[in-house]
Amino acid sequence: MTEPFYITTPIYYVNAKPHLGHAYTTIVADVICRFHSMQKAETYFLTGTDEHGDKVVRAAKKEHETPMVYVDRISSLFKGLWPELNIKFNSFIRTTDLAHVTVVEKILQKIYDSGDIYFSEYEGLYCYGCERFYTERELVDRKCPDHESEPATIKESNYFFKMSAYQGWLIEYIHNHPDFIRPERYKNEVLSFLKEPLGDLCISRPKTRLQWGITLPFDKNYVTYVWFDALLNYISGIGFPDGGLFKKFWPHAQHIIAKDILKPHGIYWPTMLKAAGIPIYKHLNVHGYWNIDQSKMSKSLGNVVEPLQLKNRYGIDVFRYFLMREMVFGLDSIFHIDALIKRTNSDLANDLGNLFSRVLAMTHKYFPATVPETDPKAEQGFQSGLKSDALKAVEEFEKSMCRFSFQKALIAIWDFISKMNKYIDVTAPWVLAKKKSSQKQLAAVINNLLEGLRIVSGLLYPVMPDTAMTMQKHLGLDPEKPFYHLDGLKTWKKITPGIVLPKSIILFPRIDTKKDNTPHGDIVDSDASISKIKPEITLETFNKVDLRVATVLRVDTVPKAKKLLKLEIDIGEKRTIIAGIAENYTSEDLVGRQIIVIVNLKPAKILGIVSQGMMLAAVEENGPVVATLDKKTKPGAPIR
Ligand code: MSP
Repeated sequence: MTEPFYITTPIYYVNAKPHLGHAYTTIVADVICRFHSMQKAETYFLTGTDEHGDKVVRAAKKEHETPMVYVDRISSLFKGLWPELNIKFNSFIRTTDLAHVTVVEKILQKIYDSGDIYFSEYEGLYCYGCERFYTERELVDRKCPDHESEPATIKESNYFFKMSAYQGWLIEYIHNHPDFIRPERYKNEVLSFLKEPLGDLCISRPKTRLQWGITLPFDKNYVTYVWFDALLNYISGIGFPDGGLFKKFWPHAQHIIAKDILKPHGIYWPTMLKAAGIPIYKHLNVHGYWNIDQSKMSKSLGNVVEPLQLKNRYGIDVFRYFLMREMVFGLDSIFHIDALIKRTNSDLANDLGNLFSRVLAMTHKYFPATVPETDPKAEQGFQSGLKSDALKAVEEFEKSMCRFSFQKALIAIWDFISKMNKYIDVTAPWVLAKKKSSQKQLAAVINNLLEGLRIVSGLLYPVMPDTAMTMQKHLGLDPEKPFYHLDGLKTWKKITPGIVLPKSIILFPRIDTKKDNTPHGDIVDSDASISKIKPEITLETFNKVDLRVATVLRVDTVPKAKKLLKLEIDIGEKRTIIAGIAENYTSEDLVGRQIIVIVNLKPAKILGIVSQGMMLAAVEENGPVVATLDKKTKPGAPIR
C-alpha cells in the first residue's frame, strides 16, 4: 500500500495581495499532491493565511479598516485565487480560526507546564518588518538583510521558549535524517546556523505594544509571537490532537517553503514539536526566489507579477508549465515574459502541440478516425524502441518527481516527445499509406503513436491537468477515470482499438511575438497599474515630501541590470540616483534635461549603488515616461 501524503504551503501574510511567488509555492504543492495521487496515495493538502501580528495591524490601518475586516478581505483573495490556478487544496486554514487558536493555547500551556517557557527581561535588535529579533551576526552592514533597514533596540520583559535546550538534539536529528531538509544546501545552511549557540526564542509580545494576536493562556498581558502561532497551523489544520486526519496524515507531513523562512521551519518548528512531545515532520522542501531583474519579487519592492494576469493572457497550463520547467527547485530564477513566450512556442506549441495534432490528423486521414487494430507480426520493427522509451520516461519522471526535481521530470517527458517526433520521421506513415502491402505496418505505427500520446497525457497530469484531460478526450478515453495512475502508464498498449476519435484540435496556439507586445512591465504590478486612487492625505503630510528640480549631468548603465540607469544629478549639490528607465531612455535622451526628484527619500542600496533620491515618471503601458520641466529652472528649486 502506498503511504498517505500530507503537504503544506506556508500560510501567507495578509499584508499584501497574492503574487507569483506565492502562486509558485502553492502550484508546487498542487503538482506534488497530484503526483502522489498518481501513485494512488491518499493525499491531504493544506494552505491558508497568517493573520496576526504587527504587519497586519499596520496594513489594515493603511486601508482604514479594522484588522478583522482587513484580514477577511485579503484572506479571501488568496482563497479565491487558488482554484483559478487549478490548485486543489483540501483545507484552507486561517490563524484567526477558533480551532487554531485553541490548539495554540493548548501547546503553549503544555510547554509552559513542562518548564520550557520562562519569563525574563530581554534587550535585542528587533526588525519590525520581519517581526523578529536579530543577532548581530545575522545582520548585513548592521541592517536586516530582507528589509535593508537598521533594526531597533528594544528592551522588554517577555516569555521565552528554551529552544537552546534542543540544539544538540536537533543537530543529531538532522545528521540521522539526511534528507529531512532538502535540497542539501539548505540542510547545510541550517547546520551552519546551529554551529553558533542557539539562544532561546522570545515567544510573546506585550499587549502594550501589540494586541492583535493570541493571548497567552498563562498571562493575559501578552499575545503570542506570530511565528509561534503560525507554525502550529500545520497541526491545527488537520485536527490535532485527536482528529482522524491528524492521526492519518501527520506521520507523513512534508512542508514546502522558500528559503526566506528556513530558520523558523528548520529550527523553531522541530524544536517546538520536540518540546510539545509531537513527532517531527518528515521533510522540509525548500525552494529559491523568483526574482525580477536581480531583486526578489516582493510587495515592498513594488515589483510583483500578478498570477491572474498571466493566466488570463496565456492560459493556466502555460503558466504552470513555465513555472515548473523554468525553476530548478532550490535555486533562484529570474522571471521574464520573453522566456515564457519562448517556452510556449518551442516546447508547447511546436514539440507537444504539433505532435498531437499530426498524430490525430493522420489517424483521421488513414483510419476514418478510429484507433487502428494492430497485428503483432506487423509490429516487428515498427515499435523501434518506442515502448522502452516510454517506460524509461515514466521511470525517470517518477524518480525526479519524488525528489522535487520538476524540471528533470518535464525534461524526461519532452525527451520522449522528441523521440515520438523522430519516430514519425523515421517510419514515414505517409509513405506506408501509399502501398496496400504496408497497411498493417501503418496501423502499427499509428497505434504506437496514439499509445505514446496516452502515456504523455498521463504524465502531464500533475503540471498541466487541463491539457491532460483534453488530450485524453481526443484520444477517445474517459477523462473522468484516473487515467494518470502510474501503474497504467507503466503498461504499454492500453489504448483500445476501434474507438472513434473526436476531431483534432490545437492544444497550444503559438504566441505571435509581433502581435503580443506585452511589455514585461505590464505584467509586473506597480502601484500605478492598480490604478486605485490612494487614501486621502493632508497637505501637511504631502509637504513632508521634498521635491526638487534636478539637472541630469551624466547617465551610465548598471551592469547586470537591463532596466536600470545610474544618473548623476545636480540639485544644488551633486547626487546619484538609480532609475528603472533603461528600456526607454538613453544617456543622449537625458543629459542636460531637467527632471523632478524626491530628495528626502531614505537612501537605498540597489545592486551595490546607493541611490540618493527618486525621479518622477509616469507609469505607462509601454514603459516609464520621465516628468520634465517646460522651462529652464534653477537646479534645486523646490516643487510645490
Ligand atoms: N506568514 C509567513 C509564513 C508562515 S508559515 C508557518 C510568511 N508569509 S509570506 O506571505 O511572506 O510568504 C512567504 C512565502 O511565499 C515564501 O516562503 C514562498 O513560499 C513564497 N514567496 C514569496 N515571495 C517569493 C518569491 N519571490 N519567490 C518564491 N517564493 C516566494 O513568510
